Amino acid sequence: MTDGVSGQKRNTPTSTVGRGKAVTLTTQAEVERWTDGDVTLCFGDSLDHYESWPSPQVIVSDGAYGILGFEGDTSDHLGIAKWYEPHIKAWSERATPQTTLWFWNSEIGWAATHPVLELYGWRYVNANIWNKGKAHIAGNVNTAKIRRFPVVTEMCVQYVLEPRIDGLTLQRWLFREWKRTGLPMRKANEACGVADVAVRKYLDQGHLWYYPPPEMFHKMAQYANVHGKPEGRPYFSRDGIRSMTMEEWATMRSIFHCPIGVTNVWERNPLKGPERVKVPHISSKAAHLNQKPLDLMRRIIEASSSIGGVVWEPFGGLFSASLAAKLSGRRAFSGEIDSTYFQIGISRFADQAPLDF
Ligand SMILES: C[S@@+](CC[C@H](N)C(=O)[O-])C[C@H]1O[C@@H](n2cnc3c(N)ncnc32)[C@H](O)[C@@H]1O
Repeated sequence: MTDGVSGQKRNTPTSTVGRGKAVTLTTQAEVERWTDGDVTLCFGDSLDHYESWPSPQVIVSDGAYGILGFEGDTSDHLGIAKWYEPHIKAWSERATPQTTLWFWNSEIGWAATHPVLELYGWRYVNANIWNKGKAHIAGNVNTAKIRRFPVVTEMCVQYVLEPRIDGLTLQRWLFREWKRTGLPMRKANEACGVADVAVRKYLDQGHLWYYPPPEMFHKMAQYANVHGKPEGRPYFSRDGIRSMTMEEWATMRSIFHCPIGVTNVWERNPLKGPERVKVPHISSKAAHLNQKPLDLMRRIIEASSSIGGVVWEPFGGLFSASLAAKLSGRRAFSGEIDSTYFQIGISRFADQAPLDF
C-alpha cells in the first residue's frame, strides 16, 4: 500500500492513537469560541475555522510529530505529510506574500512534510534547531538499546509564501520587465543612481539576486516608464494599467528582523518551572506533553510580524503561540480539537484563578 502524498510503502496504517493524557477533564468549556479582543480561541478542527480568521502575517504550526504526542498524532513520519496536507493547502489559500510560516517538528517529520509545503507554494528559508541540551535526557537513555545518539533537538523551520506575478517569481519578473523595455542592462544602474548594484543584484538571475528595496524599485519603474519602448508601457505593472507603487512593492515580501546575536541554533533548556502548565489537584504531571516555551514563540513572532499583526496557531494545545502573540502586542487566532487542552489553554488567558476546574 502506498501512503498518499508521501508515496512511501507501508504495510499497516500509521496509528493515530495517542499515549494518553496526564489530565482529562470531565467538564466542558463554557464557550466554543473564546475571545478577549486580541486573542480568539476556537474549539474544534482548525480546518473548520480558517475561513473565519483574518489573513495571517504569521502561522505557527506545531501539529503532528509522528511520536504519538497527542490523540491524533501519527506513530511515525510516514503518515505525516498526508496529515498536514489539508492544512497546508488552506494556509496557502489564505496567506499572502507577507506571511511567514514557522513549521515546528522533528527532523524526519519536517523532511517528510517539506515536499508538500513546496508543492503548495511555500519556499524554504531556514532551518532553526532548538537544542534542549543534555537536561532533556537526564542521562537516562539506553543507547545500546536504541542504537543511535539521543535526540535533544526540535526543528523550527521558516518558510515564506513564494510571491509570483504573471506566474513568475519576483526575480524572474523584474528581469523580464527590464528586458521588455529594450534598455541595456547597465541602464538599470543609472536608473537607481548606483555604480553596479542594480545589475549585479536586482536583475541577477542566479543566487546573487537581491530584492530591491521599495525606493530602488520605484526608481527602476520610473526610469523604465520614461525611457523604455513606448509600446511596452506600463512597465513593472501588475494590472497592465499602472506601475506598482513603492508601498505595493513593499507588501510583496515578508517581514523579518533578527535580534542581535541570535543564530539558527537556539540553546534553551526543556520547559519546566512555573511556566509549565499543570492541574495540581488532578495530576503532578505537565498538562500537555508538547507545551512550547513562550520565549521561543515570542522570538519567531516578533521577528516576522508587526505590532497588531495576525498570528495563526492552527494546533493550539495550550495556545503558547497565541499567548506569546498577545504578550508581544499581536492578535492571535487558534484552534484546539481536544476539549481538555482547550479548557486548560483558555485558563492561561482568562482573568480567573488559573486552572481551577
Ligand atoms: C504539538 S501540540 C501543540 C502544543 C502547543 N504548541 C503548546 O505549546 O501548547 C498539537 C495540538 O494540536 C491539536 N490538534 C491536532 N489536530 C488538530 C486540528 N485539526 N485542529 C485543531 N487542533 C488540533 C492536538 O490536540 C494538540 O493539542
